Amino acid sequence: MIGTDLDFAKTCLLAGKTVAIPTETVYGLAANGLNVNAVAEIFRIKKRPTFDPLILHTDSLAKVENWVVEIPKPLLLLAEHFWAGALTLLLPKKGIVPALVTSGLETVAMRIPNHPLTLELLSRLNFPLAAPSANPFGYLSPTTPLHVAQQLGNEVGYILDGGKSQIGIESTIVGIENGLVTVFRKGGIPIEDIESLLGQRVALRPHSTSRPAAPGMLQSHYAPRKPIVVGEDLSSLLEAQAGKKVGVLAFQKLPALTAAQSPTKARLVLSKSGNLSEAAQNFFDFLHQLDSLDIDVIIAEWLPEIGLGKAINDRLRRASFLEKS
Ligand code: TXA
Ligand code: MG
Repeated sequence: MIGTDLDFAKTCLLAGKTVAIPTETVYGLAANGLNVNAVAEIFRIKKRPTFDPLILHTDSLAKVENWVVEIPKPLLLLAEHFWAGALTLLLPKKGIVPALVTSGLETVAMRIPNHPLTLELLSRLNFPLAAPSANPFGYLSPTTPLHVAQQLGNEVGYILDGGKSQIGIESTIVGIENGLVTVFRKGGIPIEDIESLLGQRVALRPHSTSRPAAPGMLQSHYAPRKPIVVGEDLSSLLEAQAGKKVGVLAFQKLPALTAAQSPTKARLVLSKSGNLSEAAQNFFDFLHQLDSLDIDVIIAEWLPEIGLGKAINDRLRRASFLEKS
């Protein structure tokens, strides 16, 4: 069921059930983050390995303090500036946070999302909502209620309809490692904005494929079911796929195409004006669209490696990894 009934959403959550919630980044599959059985339900529905920890969502810094021991100074600065927003902070957890939420880690991921409907729901709850992206593990993140319904519709009792996610890619995850402010996942808040607020460079966690510290780092994450090939030049990618039905994900401009190679519906441009925010907003939605068409392969081009372009390229890299290996 899809709707905007906050009372019903709250009733489901109080009963330990899951509800899909809108956020400005992507839709989340939410449940009471302090209720182990409810959290276990999230892992089951997503088919997510339990070594991949969840983010807790709430609506105020005061509530965050109920679940974390402290907020280190640079992270507090980020929280005060970017919350509510596309920023997740890794903070030392209090005992009340179940080990299942953090996969046994001593830090818990916390975020105040910036979406009016979800903020209103969170303000009516005295517990945080554990919520990973509302997609089967490893598949494309959902940015509309329809994406959630298509992927998890049979499993989720209620989908709260908050329209299309405004940012469109997941939050930037920031923690402290070896005394350094460290980005664990590139996302909706550009690294440049974080560095300019802190007045210093941040560390970047390199990729890892086994028991990763942030499994958003898993190399084959965010993948569509169709093969995807990414390169610098769409025309040469297209030549290389001669004879196949090709879906095209362009940044600003389509390459010259022959009809046989690419059906009209399968030629999508992320942002005609080259706007990275617009490109991020369309990114997962367009991949969902391409993935649902009768095509053999998706070709995509790298975006400029600045601002949100870095986060989008990161997702393209992971989505295409299986094809390259
Ligand atoms: O924008 C978002 O962050 C969305 C919306 C729904 O808030 N959520 C989201 O959750 O993307 P998920 O579960 O798909 O990705 C969360 C990432 C995972 O890669 C997980 O490994 C990492 O956060 N994570 C969670 N807790 C962590 C911790 N204590 N240490 C390191 N990484 C952690
Ligand atoms: Mg996810």
